[in-house]
Amino acid sequence: MKFADLIIKRFDDDVPEIALPAGISELRQSGHGFAHLMADAIEAMITNNVAADERPHVDAIEARRTELEASEDEISYTDFGSATRDESQSMEEMYEGVDRSRSVGHLCRRTSKPYRSALLLHKIIRSAGTKNGLELGTCLGISGSYEAAAMELNGNGRMITMEGAAPVAALAQQTFDRLGHGRVEIVVGRFQDTLTGTVAEQGPFDYAFIDGHHDGRATIDYYNIILPHLTDGAIVVYDDIRWSNGMLDAWNALKVHESVEVSVDLEDVGICWVCKDPKPAEHFVIE
Ligand SMILES: C[S@@+](CC[C@H](N)C(=O)[O-])C[C@H]1O[C@@H](n2cnc3c(N)ncnc32)[C@H](O)[C@@H]1O
Repeated sequence: MKFADLIIKRFDDDVPEIALPAGISELRQSGHGFAHLMADAIEAMITNNVAADERPHVDAIEARRTELEASEDEISYTDFGSATRDESQSMEEMYEGVDRSRSVGHLCRRTSKPYRSALLLHKIIRSAGTKNGLELGTCLGISGSYEAAAMELNGNGRMITMEGAAPVAALAQQTFDRLGHGRVEIVVGRFQDTLTGTVAEQGPFDYAFIDGHHDGRATIDYYNIILPHLTDGAIVVYDDIRWSNGMLDAWNALKVHESVEVSVDLEDVGICWVCKDPKPAEHFVIE
């Protein structure tokens, strides 16, 4: 089985052992502490290494995912994300949004981070000891729950997660309440309206997960808004870097941004280590 096939497996799927990708040894050979942290986190994700104290959280979050996926309740909301992969929409059209009506199950299956990728975020936060995290794109609260659970286990940290669709945010709040995640707070509104004020009031952040509005232009704009409010040594995770040519162009520009010292490309997700005075950057690809 290839790495790309593994990361879409469900948490209870039987998965044959896969050889660790060569990129993991390259991360381990680096002298950079973040590269080592990433090697450990990716290896834990691949081998499905869930610690005893993490297991109850994983089981509870995945039970909530199963419940949401099974729901045929209809939800109507305005989607302020990118509706096309060719970036033919103007910024004004995306600001206006597209009205949608979907079953909750459909929404959850289509948009929530799959188990392994969410576990990776959890492992990164556990190892990095993240204190103040930011997420763009709450949706139903699955990735946010993995992030908040890591902070719960660390006994430290809080997440601000942002969502434009109020009815979707209400379901995410139910997810967090049901799972007892007090370390996460939802900001409801378009990123275009809320991001600048939120980062100024709630920053600096040592972790950011950008998982909404998958438009290359918007992704670069959001990074430029967030950057002054990141700590020295912050971790920035971009989702769906190959969703469109525009997103791939954005990733290729962001990973070589002057603020980045390490980048790790995991096919669907790109991760950067950001600092104030970076040394020549190291770039890793895991495939
Ligand atoms: C891919 S989903 C997030 C999934 C979530 N991180 C998870 O894995 O559980 C993206 C979310 O971002 C929201 N979104 C997209 N563009 C937005 C914008 N411009 N402003 C606010 N929210 C937006 C969508 O409504 C959607 O719920």
